[in-house]
Amino acid sequence: MEINSNERKKVKNMIEYRIMTIDDYEEAYELWIRCGNGLNNKDDSREGIDKYLKRNPSTSYVAVLDKKVVGVILCGHDGRRGIIQHACVSPDCRRMGIGNKLVDLALDALKKEGINKVLLVAFKKNEGGNAFWEAQGFTLREDLNYRNKALAEMIRIDPDYVK
Ligand SMILES: CC(C)(COP(=O)(O)OP(=O)(O)OC[C@H]1O[C@@H](n2cnc3c(N)ncnc32)[C@H](O)[C@@H]1OP(=O)(O)O)[C@@H](O)C(=O)NCCC(=O)NCCS
Repeated sequence: MEINSNERKKVKNMIEYRIMTIDDYEEAYELWIRCGNGLNNKDDSREGIDKYLKRNPSTSYVAVLDKKVVGVILCGHDGRRGIIQHACVSPDCRRMGIGNKLVDLALDALKKEGINKVLLVAFKKNEGGNAFWEAQGFTLREDLNYRNKALAEMIRIDPDYVK
């Protein structure tokens, strides 16, 4: 799908936003792969995303154009902090405010659930992604080290092909 600059405004008005369901999985996954979001074979399997959406049924959103998913944001919380993951917009539809709108929707949904702060991680080398988060008001914490520990064997699906 090619969208030239003259069509951008028209296209922008055609985008629909709705809560993500598991029926969006295949298209969302394809988009995550295209956009180079860091994936793994367990959490990002259909079963993994289904588990996530069952636990967080009202805070993840998709952007849809002509019945096709062109943007996704996974968002949930643990009762205290909100977490955003796998935000992406189709390369053909960027810089039209879709990412911004998806973030707004996710943050409003978190607020409705009484969540006061939200976090995310972004690969340092992802300059565009980091500039986007900066523009959304997500400040960089330089006083923290991000640490994690795997509780199961997972195969990482390498995001080196970030587009
Ligand atoms: C990051 C991403 C979701 C942004 O989606 P988008 O719909 O293009 O974003 P928006 O149009 O809402 O951008 C809002 C603002 O963010 C900033 N921004 C967005 N992309 C940017 C980029 N590549 N470089 C610099 N600033 C950027 C700009 O300030 C922009 O406003 P402007 O267009 O008026 O200048 C999209 O580029 C993407 O899918 N990237 C690949 C996946 C990714 O990196 N996801 C984040 C993982 S942590």
